[in-house]
Amino acid sequence: MCGIIGILGKHEAAPILVEALKRLEYRGYDSSGIATVKDDGSLDRRRAVGKLVELQDKLVFEPLKGKAGIGHTRWATHGEPNEKNAHPHTRGAVSVVHNGIIENFLTLREELKCEGYKAVTDTDSETIAILCSKFIDEGDEPLVAARKTLLKLSGSFAIAMLFEGQKNLIFAARSGSPLAVGYGKNEIYLGSDALALLPLTKKVAYLEEGDHAVLTREGAEIYDIKGNSVSRQITYLNQSINFHDKSGFSHFMEKEIHEQPIALERAISSYLSDSTGKPTFNLLKKINFTEVSRIILVACGTAYYACYVAKYWIEKLAKIPVEIDIASEFRYREPPIEHATVAIFVSQSGETADTLAALRYCSGRAEKIISIVNVSTSSIARESDEVLEIHAGPEIGVASTKAFTCQLAVLLLATLKAAKDRAEISSTDISKTVNNLKNLPAILNQYLGNVNSLKDISYKLSTTSDVLFLGRGLMYPLALEGALKLKEISYIHAEGYASGELKHGPIALIDDSVPVIILAPYDNLFEKSISNMQEVIARKANVIVISDNDGLREAGLKSETSIEMPKADPLLAPLIYALPIQLLAYFTAVFKGTDVDQPRNLAKSVTVE
Ligand code: M6R
Repeated sequence: MCGIIGILGKHEAAPILVEALKRLEYRGYDSSGIATVKDDGSLDRRRAVGKLVELQDKLVFEPLKGKAGIGHTRWATHGEPNEKNAHPHTRGAVSVVHNGIIENFLTLREELKCEGYKAVTDTDSETIAILCSKFIDEGDEPLVAARKTLLKLSGSFAIAMLFEGQKNLIFAARSGSPLAVGYGKNEIYLGSDALALLPLTKKVAYLEEGDHAVLTREGAEIYDIKGNSVSRQITYLNQSINFHDKSGFSHFMEKEIHEQPIALERAISSYLSDSTGKPTFNLLKKINFTEVSRIILVACGTAYYACYVAKYWIEKLAKIPVEIDIASEFRYREPPIEHATVAIFVSQSGETADTLAALRYCSGRAEKIISIVNVSTSSIARESDEVLEIHAGPEIGVASTKAFTCQLAVLLLATLKAAKDRAEISSTDISKTVNNLKNLPAILNQYLGNVNSLKDISYKLSTTSDVLFLGRGLMYPLALEGALKLKEISYIHAEGYASGELKHGPIALIDDSVPVIILAPYDNLFEKSISNMQEVIARKANVIVISDNDGLREAGLKSETSIEMPKADPLLAPLIYALPIQLLAYFTAVFKGTDVDQPRNLAKSVTVE
């Protein structure tokens, strides 16, 4: 989604801004732009539609001078992606970049129009520039004007502003969308994503909700929502991220799929030790699950499907009722939350606006707020009572892969800890599951060494327009995830269904043109899955079954195509079957020639509701 960069530096800002914007590319965008205060104090800007290379080309022919600048990658919300709507928006003495949504922009726009300040774009963001420049026209100093502007805005935003004649000033504000200040030597930076600042500085401070900041090369003055001067903790980034290094793979998604064994090993060993021969769970130590009457799991997209798997695990193993919900639905249905409830929020980025809003709804209502995130400095992490980092490492591809399996691993360990607290699981079963989990990275590594056979199936998928995924029990959420993965990167329509639900409607869709992918590990539901498979074969569907070999042979059945899976503990099947569904989506998208890592219309981190 949109990205913000700001710099008050010693060198020409434009090339540094463009490089920094490249590090935000993975978040998804459709246009970009930069503005600077030139040496004569005037504001200037360049904007372009499409990839950053378009902006770079423009800068070759029309260079932009100045050592103070702001930059933006825009993911369109209000107004189509064209140059007119691209940021920065400049009006009078003000240039603005904005992430988020100004919810009262229509009212403000009408008021401003009546005062003679007409909008020229279709965006909500332009209103900020018009409002601030109006206050300056009325005689306010830039900082006074900027603060007055903030008071008029409602909605969620992160803002950076430059002012005419001010070569050593950036005004920044955070309300709902993240912003970090980066400290250099006689230079200062601003970023909506601290990682984008990494090559410039490792020293950052995150603005908190309602903060605004006045940046100069000498430092940053930060003010809280009441206008009090505050200091925010300095964090030293220890992560390194290379946005160019695909380690020989064609796409980040492919690289991240192959990173799963090592990422899982990291995630598992962070929360598990067994030096005494008995497994110890090093997570959620302050929670005694005998006192917990309900668990709520909330997330979006792939993270939501991880929650779905966890519901099956927790209810079966720890015998605690679990409610799961999509974050965008959760908050507005105003669910009652009794005190002995633990609320868990799962998010790779830790910045998803809906998930953050759901967390805030539960704060003060639930007994404990836990987050499971990949970014430990994220907003969701910072507002939680306890943070479980998934240790997947930076995920650049828009399609979530290694974050999903690492989320599952952490959720399974949390389940085992809860089941142990409640004495619902024997120590033998704990040891067995823990051993199986520890062996999993090796099993996945071996599996990933031989995935070429998936290419033929993917080629056929790439020529179809509709695909169904079916699964039962733990495989139902995987069917949903398989469909999401395929549609988001290959643009092929796909749906996931519980196999048993097929007869209640979706079976009407089946004919010989619709591939049906059935996830059927050899577990207690295998025979039922095979019955459902027969139902679709009888209707001439083109069935692809993903299963372990023995199971299929024992059933005496042959589907048109089968994908052979390694034998493993059925409890862990979601962590294994995630791989073929990710790979099928990946290879299919490659055959179709879509933009795998940055699929159309999508953003990596969805920071608007
Ligand atoms: O950062 P989050 O885990 O909160 O993101 C949630 C979803 O936006 C994300 O999983 C999305 O569905 C992915 N594109 C799926 O591959």
